[in-house]
Amino acid sequence: MEPGTKVWTYQSTGDDPWILSEVLTRTPDLLTLKFLSGDDTGSTTTRPLVSSTSLNEDGTKMEMGDKKYEGVELANPPLSESEIKEGSDADMISLPHLHEPAILHAVSERYFRGEIYTWTGPVLIAVNPFQRLPLYTREILESYRQEGLLRSQNLLDAQKALGPHVYSVADRSYRQMMSEQRKSQSILISGESGAGKTETTKIVMLYLTTLGSNESDGESGEGGSGKLSIMERVLQSNPILEAFGNAKTLRNDNSSRFGKFIELGFNRAGILQGAKVQTYLLEKVRLGFHASGERNYHIFYQLLRGATEEQHHKYCFHDGITGGLELANFFHYTGQGGAPQLREFTDEEGLKYTLKSMSSMGWSDDKIDNVLSIIAGILHLGQVKFESKLSEGGQEIAQLADEKTVADAAKLLGVDLQKLITALTVRIMVTRGEEIRIDLAPDKAADARDSLAKTIYGAMFLWVVKEVNNSIKWENDKDIRSSAGVLDIFGFESFAINSFEQLCINFTNEALQQQFNKFIFKLEQEEYERESINWAFIEFPDNQDCLDTIQARPKGILPMLDDECKLGQRGSDKNWAQRLNEIYLPERNQTISENTRFSATAIQKAKGIFCVRHFAGNVQYTAETGFLEKNRDEIPLTAKSLFEEDSSDLIKEVYEVQMEQSEEETGKGPAKQKTVSQQFKQQLQSLIEMIETTDPHYIRCLKPNDAAKPKLLTRKRLTEQLRYGGVLEAVRVARMGYPVRLDHAGFFKRYRMLLPSVPEEKLAWSMEDEDPQKLCVKFLDILLEEGAKPLVYENADGTITRANKIRMAQRQPEPMVFAKTDVQLGKTKVFMRKGPHDLLESHRVFHQSASSTLIQSWMKGMQQRRRYLIMADAALDIQRWYRGCMGRARWWRLREAQAGQLLTNNFRMQVVRIKYNRSRAGTISLQAQYRGRATRRLIALTKIQAYRRMYIRKNAFRKLRSASVAIQCCVRRGIAKKEFNELKRSQKDMGKLKEHNEKLKMEMASLKAMLQAQAASDAGKAENKKAIEEKEEEIKKLEIRVSQLERELANEKEFVQKLEKELAAQKENNHRIVQDLQYQKELLAKSPQVSEQARKHSRAQSAGIPAVTEPLAEAVVVGHTITPEALAMHRAEVARLEAQLEEERKMRHAASREIRSLRSALEGKGEYDATASTKFISDTMSEVTESEMDRSDVANLNDIEPEMRCVTTCCFG
Ligand SMILES: Nc1ncnc2c1ncn2[C@@H]1O[C@H](COP(=O)(O)OP(=O)(O)OP(=O)(O)O)[C@@H](O)[C@H]1O
Ligand SMILES: [Mg+2]
Repeated sequence: MEPGTKVWTYQSTGDDPWILSEVLTRTPDLLTLKFLSGDDTGSTTTRPLVSSTSLNEDGTKMEMGDKKYEGVELANPPLSESEIKEGSDADMISLPHLHEPAILHAVSERYFRGEIYTWTGPVLIAVNPFQRLPLYTREILESYRQEGLLRSQNLLDAQKALGPHVYSVADRSYRQMMSEQRKSQSILISGESGAGKTETTKIVMLYLTTLGSNESDGESGEGGSGKLSIMERVLQSNPILEAFGNAKTLRNDNSSRFGKFIELGFNRAGILQGAKVQTYLLEKVRLGFHASGERNYHIFYQLLRGATEEQHHKYCFHDGITGGLELANFFHYTGQGGAPQLREFTDEEGLKYTLKSMSSMGWSDDKIDNVLSIIAGILHLGQVKFESKLSEGGQEIAQLADEKTVADAAKLLGVDLQKLITALTVRIMVTRGEEIRIDLAPDKAADARDSLAKTIYGAMFLWVVKEVNNSIKWENDKDIRSSAGVLDIFGFESFAINSFEQLCINFTNEALQQQFNKFIFKLEQEEYERESINWAFIEFPDNQDCLDTIQARPKGILPMLDDECKLGQRGSDKNWAQRLNEIYLPERNQTISENTRFSATAIQKAKGIFCVRHFAGNVQYTAETGFLEKNRDEIPLTAKSLFEEDSSDLIKEVYEVQMEQSEEETGKGPAKQKTVSQQFKQQLQSLIEMIETTDPHYIRCLKPNDAAKPKLLTRKRLTEQLRYGGVLEAVRVARMGYPVRLDHAGFFKRYRMLLPSVPEEKLAWSMEDEDPQKLCVKFLDILLEEGAKPLVYENADGTITRANKIRMAQRQPEPMVFAKTDVQLGKTKVFMRKGPHDLLESHRVFHQSASSTLIQSWMKGMQQRRRYLIMADAALDIQRWYRGCMGRARWWRLREAQAGQLLTNNFRMQVVRIKYNRSRAGTISLQAQYRGRATRRLIALTKIQAYRRMYIRKNAFRKLRSASVAIQCCVRRGIAKKEFNELKRSQKDMGKLKEHNEKLKMEMASLKAMLQAQAASDAGKAENKKAIEEKEEEIKKLEIRVSQLERELANEKEFVQKLEKELAAQKENNHRIVQDLQYQKELLAKSPQVSEQARKHSRAQSAGIPAVTEPLAEAVVVGHTITPEALAMHRAEVARLEAQLEEERKMRHAASREIRSLRSALEGKGEYDATASTKFISDTMSEVTESEMDRSDVANLNDIEPEMRCVTTCCFG
């Protein structure tokens, strides 16, 4: 155990007894360890070196030469993934170190991987999964069956075990049974309560019956003839046995309260012929009492909960009497524990299943009914209560409290009522052939009642087993060639208080363990012989002394108990315990017997307690727990007579079965009743004998936790069970001689490294082309030779290699010196004792740790270099990245600054622009307003001036026009007047003219007539025609002239009228102009709006105008601007007007003359003359001007002239 070695360290406290640890330091006396798991991980502990003798006491420690470190075991290297997949840990025997912690670790690791089965050599370890796993399907069964068949026919490697499974154990037993020897087989299933024995038994039976089923057997199932096949009947026996023999306990809902051995008989062809069931030690105490949370046997609850109304009536289960309680809780025998329900199935379903199984076993309905009646009768019997009354002798005796209940019980049990009452209240003793009746006290009567119930139920159970056997048994023993038995037996038990049952159970287990040890020894022996190893010096542990302590006559515990029972009333539990102490511990202060199996301290002795050291550990038995009574299990005389006489057939039958089993054939005289221990010993003996004649197979069931929960494992409980189950004992036995076994290849590969300096030529490194055994022999010789030499690390040149330097620095191992016989080379394996093995292992660890240190140094160097390079690279990367980040950050800051600047500038610009724009807009608007105002003022001024001027001009024009019109009107009026007068006159002349014209027309007409007459009378035509034409021409001219004169006359008239109108209008206009001028004069005089500035301006402007009238001056100030062209136009107009005036005058004169010529022409020739007419008009006009023109008009005209002149002067200077 070099420092750094992984070991398991035992801890007596805590939930985990074995903690994985690492050796820190080692001295010859002390080992310092560091815990690597558990609650104390990291903390250290020490273990002293102790002698191995004391270690053997509790069976937990293994020998290591003479001495070993206390509670420390070498740990196996952990399995790799591939090893796990390959199932390297499927058989723990292949583990290099096989001991308690190694098994515990391997089993728990596999359990959590869902692998509940593990081989430990020939023993199958089965951990209860507490959940239905898909491990028992038809396909899996078939695969095991196929593989087993191929192996049996040597088509597969028969040496290689099937995968660990119940099926493989069953298959192996079947194949061995069918082998040439046709040897019977037995499968021994053990384990503590709730570990899964019964379930495993069922699985084994299923496999065996399936393999042994006759496929051509037509009587299968309901579909066939109705009769079940033997396979089905064998399987159907289980529910019946479980209903009567199983009960709910705190540890298991379906706990078998009896041991069971089922023997399956097969014929030559391996076909199942039938089965036999042997039961052991039914727990009858349960009938009278069971603890809280527990139950009585299932059949009671099934009947109470599953019975029909009719059955209720028949079995007197009156609901009315229960006082509201459920029936199961009401009855004394079923209600003590609260009658809880089962987890996996209900009692109603249970009854159906039980009844179905009974029917399928061929039981008649009457038989089933009678069985159920007895069950109901027992329930009613339990209800019988006793009152106390005083006998004649003054003694307190029992009296029935209620006869109805007893009557019901008697009726249902099929016994005589009076006899039943007697059996309950009276005890009959026979002394010297005389019967003595003793009335029982109430408490004794209650005991009698319970013991009667126990007797009836015990007998009933035996009867049921017998009936089951009758249903499934094989017809003819000759048909049976071999058998396979399955033993489902209680495992080793050790409670706080252990009684008779525990002693029997542990005795059984002790006996079975001995058988197991013998078997293992035999196997070992076989292996040694196979491997040609000398095994003569190998010793095996034997527990015969323990068995003797329990059973050997006369001093064995059980024989002494029988002897005590024989004493009758004088015998007692206490006496028995005392006698045991006297025999085994004769010395006053002695606590351990000579054989070390029996022990008791002084206190224990005083309490009647003694201890027996079984193979699985010490168990304390408390004597005063009814050992004697339980062992006697007598049927009272009263009960005997009850069953033998006047009872029903069934109860008689039941009683007979009981008597058959309990009575001892003495050969002479009447049969003696056997004690329970005697019966049991006998049964056990026959069982062991039977097993010894068979090939045994072992299944050890383990219960991973007490809570019956899946995926939960309590290591402490598992360790206890490994010990109790004898698994470790088996290992210990197996490993006592040469505990370490390695095949040649494994041995060579493992230890060749111990000789690194031995060259290849001397000893090969590889096994290729070499005989493994020879190579191993050679290796061992060299090893012993080299091992004796001291270790040399220096090379020939004085240098030391690095590896050797490391080796030098390490703690040096012991020299490899051991006896050659300690390592035996078999044909295929190398067998080693523990000492040499540990020595080789320590050298291996030494070399391995040196090599691993060297490799680690290289690896660490490489790792460091790699790390350095990675880090350097990473540092560069980080720097690059950091600089990049920094640069980007700087660039970003600059950009931000620039952007900030830009933004500031923009902002400022915007502010300034806004300011500027605002002031500009303000200025512009101010200017515009100012200019607008000025302009508007100017325009307004101009407009005013223009209006004023226009007004003045307009006025002047109007005045002028009206004046001229007035003048014209005056003139025209005068002319018109004259013309009118003239026309008036000429109208009168016109009459004359018309007259004259008429005359002319008449004259012309007369002339025409004269001419026509003249033409007709004249002979000369030319002169006459010419004179006529001239005359006609003249006439035409005269006519045109006449019409022209007429038109002119009309025009002249029209013109005269027009002139008259214009004259009137002229007059009116003149008048209005005069009014306007006056009004404006007034307006100008009054106007306040004319500003002082305008007045000044006006005055300044008017200052240069010498003679102007006031209204006109004002008009100029406010009037319009007068252009030179307008002035010229006016001047021209004035000139034209003057010329026109002149021309008018001239025309007036010409017209006067014309008038006068016309007058003269008219007077002279009588024709109209235009020139004369014009002259006439001119004359008229001049007359008007001179004589008739209105004086006011002329005055107006005179007024206008100076004004016109003034305007012209003002405007144009
Ligand atoms: N292989 C299994 N698969 C699933 N569940 C199982 C298996 N084995 C046992 N169990 C469960 O464990 C319970 C107890 O098993 P079982 O009755 O076989 O224990 P036992 O060892 O016979 O106990 P006892 O000694 O009290 O009779 C079963 O009721 C079942 O629920
Ligand atoms: Mg069971």
